[in-house]
Amino acid sequence: MSETAKIELDGKIYELPVFVGTENEKAIDISKLRDLTGYVTLDTGYKNTGATKSAITFLDGEEGILHYRGYSIEQLAEKAAFIEVAYLLIYGNLPNKEELHAFRQSICKHTLVHEDMKQFFEAYPSKAHPMGVLSSMVASLATFYPESLDPNRSPEAKNLTIHRLLAKLPTLAAWSYKNLTRHPFMYPRNEYDYCKNFLYMMFAMPTEEYQVDPVVVDAFNKLLILHADHEQNCSTSTVRIVGSSNANLYSSVSAGISALWGPLHGGANQEVIEMLERIHADGGNVDKWVAKAKDKEDPFRLMGFGHRVYKNFDPRAKIIKKACDDILDKLGVNDPLLDIAKKLEKVALEDEYFKARNLYPNVDFYSGIIYKALGIPTEMFTVMFAIGRLPGWIAQWKEMTENKEPIGRPRQIYTGQTNRQYVPVEER
Ligand code: ACO
Repeated sequence: MSETAKIELDGKIYELPVFVGTENEKAIDISKLRDLTGYVTLDTGYKNTGATKSAITFLDGEEGILHYRGYSIEQLAEKAAFIEVAYLLIYGNLPNKEELHAFRQSICKHTLVHEDMKQFFEAYPSKAHPMGVLSSMVASLATFYPESLDPNRSPEAKNLTIHRLLAKLPTLAAWSYKNLTRHPFMYPRNEYDYCKNFLYMMFAMPTEEYQVDPVVVDAFNKLLILHADHEQNCSTSTVRIVGSSNANLYSSVSAGISALWGPLHGGANQEVIEMLERIHADGGNVDKWVAKAKDKEDPFRLMGFGHRVYKNFDPRAKIIKKACDDILDKLGVNDPLLDIAKKLEKVALEDEYFKARNLYPNVDFYSGIIYKALGIPTEMFTVMFAIGRLPGWIAQWKEMTENKEPIGRPRQIYTGQTNRQYVPVEER
């Protein structure tokens, strides 16, 4: 394999180093290209740009492979607890018994949020989307913990901030839903594990005993693991780029939550279920909606289809599709939206338009149906994604700070007006 790449520009040949990752991914290191040649590279949407070297997640879009720290997503989703996966992503290895116990204890210790924050919730409009509330609340945490403002203060301080955020996000997420429904906030129960505690804070009411169904807890655990990291996607790149200015973890993750909210990214899970409901209400004519998605004059896209990197299948979607069948079966739910989703998938997968563009169902295609079966309201779907993605954002932010990466600052190619002379307004 070549150790350098040759590039010919203006009649001169330049040699650039080649970098090969542990899974044999190859890159041309262009970091000195501008100094050497005066040229930069142009890659809108970073479709072909490696923004960093990372040891957290490996993804092969052609083969449909996803590994966290070397462990396959299939094994982790089948066997692990979400909190173990969080530890694995953040600290690099699966915890032993003592490490896991200490990690759980530390998270439990920090699940409460400052009482003053409750007043913030009251200030939001009654129909406030929980993603907007969550993003603001996470940013607000920095104002309560000023010692977090310098991310490089000490490893202990950094660790405390990480544990606080992991512990408080489910509380803030559940309360953002309670705010939407104007139901009383439920305080965390620290004898419950991470997933059960969140479901309790979401669904319990002070007036009645709430039993959390273990089937629901298991399904939620699996969904969180499947969402836990996905290398340099839109929200994670946002977290890294915000963090690269030495912004604190809370601000960086708050920015990631905002990026995730967009319908082309995590917001797609809400859009998928709304799309399936529209198709159902319209009589369930799947062919009509597939035709709309193919029509370039029509802005409609098949939500939950297509992915920037998966061009064969999304391994998470494969696991979720099976989980979806199992869960609906166990809970005895018969959802007509699942039938529409299956028909839509079949029609699209056999259609030339979708085949030619390698468009396959992504993780969001089936997750909404499971969330719906678990009783989670539509506006909360992307919040669920954010809870799952948190360990990934934290791990990526931590790696970036530890590697002392430079501030993220892409170049551009200017295409606007060239030098013009100012003319006073009376003379224009
Ligand atoms: N429905 C119909 N056509 C589509 C779809 C879709 N869902 N997705 C892509 N296409 C078409 C595009 O129109 C384009 O066609 P063209 O070559 O004729 O112009 C071609 O496929 C390539 O699409 P791009 O938008 O260029 O691909 P990109 O990699 O930039 O976008 C994205 C990927 C944003 C995920 C896109 O497929 C999409 O909008 N999907 C629907 C939203 C969605 O499900 N997002 C969730 C992604 S997973 C996640 O973030 C967790």
